[in-house]
Amino acid sequence: MPSTPTIDSAARALAVSQRLLVLSGAGLSAESGIPTFREAQTGLWAQFSPQDLATPEAFAANPERVWAWYRWRRTLIARGGVNAGHRAIAALERHMDVVIATQNVDGLQSTAGSRDVSELHGNIWIDRCSECGDERRQAVAEADEQAPIPTCQSCGAGMRPGVVWFGEMLPMAALERARAELDRCDCVLVVGTSNQVYPAAALVEMAVDGPTPVIEVNPQATAVSPCVDVHIAEAASMALPALVDRLDAMRTAR
Ligand code: OAD
Repeated sequence: MPSTPTIDSAARALAVSQRLLVLSGAGLSAESGIPTFREAQTGLWAQFSPQDLATPEAFAANPERVWAWYRWRRTLIARGGVNAGHRAIAALERHMDVVIATQNVDGLQSTAGSRDVSELHGNIWIDRCSECGDERRQAVAEADEQAPIPTCQSCGAGMRPGVVWFGEMLPMAALERARAELDRCDCVLVVGTSNQVYPAAALVEMAVDGPTPVIEVNPQATAVSPCVDVHIAEAASMALPALVDRLDAMRTAR
């Protein structure tokens, strides 16, 4: 993608930054073939009901159905892998400290090489015991939707996917870390989130209300778009590599 005025503005903001907070959502992984949640037609919540699949009550009522859905999603993630957007965010570490707080449960940002990722909504590759809380990380691989419900090696109870469901608390350490980083960082990059799910959306709102420059990468406008410093209305896999190229060029020219 050639350099555009918005890429240039964003690159200028990043060039004077030493510490970047990235707030990412499902759009970042969309080009890995992993559906987002709220987009009309293609979004997961246009096809499935969150009440049936992403609540503690749904799991209690029908754990087989919930596991089948999460295993299907594991397969999509294993097939999709990282894309150019994840890689570009990892590459930003060549230029500055980068701290990431993601709503994505796919683990792809860490796979891409990012070293500091807080997973606000958990991780789909973790099985967690419903009783004792013991956790087991699964290898990234296509999953058998019909496999039996995994059982805990410590206490024998059924395991659940290690993600945050509607009505549950976010992992406190991840959320606190993201809040603290809002005060420490000198630039915020918001990528691929509709900014509709709280408390993650509140992080974006706090960023926009604060003094730190905010760059948003999203082909669609969101509620915060009119208030951010730069809105790059492009797909993450196009915009982010272009941003890194621009930063690299600025460094060479210095
Ligand atoms: P959404 O599906 O709500 O929003 C995805 C956003 O990504 C939209 O604003 C799209 O315009 C944008 N988008 C699509 N393709 C893109 C691309 N190639 N590059 C950049 N942006 C793109 O997803 P989230 O905001 O992440 O939570 O959803 C937040 C939470 O809602 C999820 O973590 C999940 C869901 O319910 C739980 O399950 C608890």
